Amino acid sequence: MAEYQINTIESGITQITVSGSVESNDSELFRALSHLSNNNCALVNLLELSETSEDLFLHLADISSQTKIKVIVKKPEFVTKCNEIGLQIFPTIKSASLSYAGEETLRILIAQLRDVPILNTEAYKLIQYVASPDANFPELEKMLQNNAGLCSQILRTANSPYFMRSSKAETLQQAMVTLGFAPLRQIFVYNFYNSVGNFFGAQKETVEHGQNCAKLAEYIAKSAGASYTECAKIRLIGLLHDVGRQALAFFFPQQYEKVQHMVKVEQKPSFLAELVVFGIEHQSIGSILANRWNFPDYLSKVIADHHYLQAKDWNTLTLPVFCANNFLNQMDGDPFSPFYHKLEGYFFLKRAELPWKDIDAELLEFLDRSQES
Ligand SMILES: [Fe+2]
Ligand SMILES: [Fe+2]
Repeated sequence: MAEYQINTIESGITQITVSGSVESNDSELFRALSHLSNNNCALVNLLELSETSEDLFLHLADISSQTKIKVIVKKPEFVTKCNEIGLQIFPTIKSASLSYAGEETLRILIAQLRDVPILNTEAYKLIQYVASPDANFPELEKMLQNNAGLCSQILRTANSPYFMRSSKAETLQQAMVTLGFAPLRQIFVYNFYNSVGNFFGAQKETVEHGQNCAKLAEYIAKSAGASYTECAKIRLIGLLHDVGRQALAFFFPQQYEKVQHMVKVEQKPSFLAELVVFGIEHQSIGSILANRWNFPDYLSKVIADHHYLQAKDWNTLTLPVFCANNFLNQMDGDPFSPFYHKLEGYFFLKRAELPWKDIDAELLEFLDRSQES
């Protein structure tokens, strides 16, 4: 027979710890487990479990359909079982309870975002419209006609040398057809981000970091011979890569000060400090926001991966941003990941020769030049 214990851990979450060997007639344990579904969430700790009948996992599957359970488990055969039925698993109590904290952070953040005025901006509505399957140019023209700023940006871009029209685009309709939906969407995202930036206002440092990262990442990409379209994407990713940090710092200013303290004093990388404080890092928040805001797919993918570099298929977009970002962190005296190797890797991928001997000096010189212009 198995033994079990129920207690409440620090963050107020109920935990049931099962130890020994579970048999199929362990009805008292199974009854205790089904009571867990009265809670919003619960931890099931299987670290002390030595053996079990299938019934335990059938019960867990049943409970998980009614309440959010996280299972703490290390034994490989139990891990496999939990994965088969799609249970969330964690190796320690700490990591499981952090994950609850992360979900809570996200829930509060999204609830508060609903009430902010940025989602009423014209640019936001345009992003949603362009992402819809029945988007068409005449309708888009109607939506844009009173927005002089956006109209002139669209005309300017369509008449830029890259699009090489034989004659000048004179109407909004002609300009939009020249560009197509993808570049239009980029223009709207830029404009939307400007409103987000204004709204998240006070964070001058993060905004400047984004602007510098955009310039530098684009410079790296251009130097490796990236196409116009790739450069445009990289510029946008560079600008937006830390939007999750802006949101965290805006909605949770006091907790974010703790993060900044850990970064500056303990030299902890920002995403690790955020994990400790919020249970979630800015890459995940940024990527979730980018998805919710209907940004192009590549943006949410690269935002999610800009520190870990796990999604290999996105390397040609992620690497220049990774290098630019870490170079800037290095310059600011913040913790950073070494990036020379990744820079070489990027140029290798682009089959280009790395043009710089002293990388730091050349990148710094570029930044100084771009600041002057
Ligand atoms: Fe970041
Ligand atoms: Fe960054």
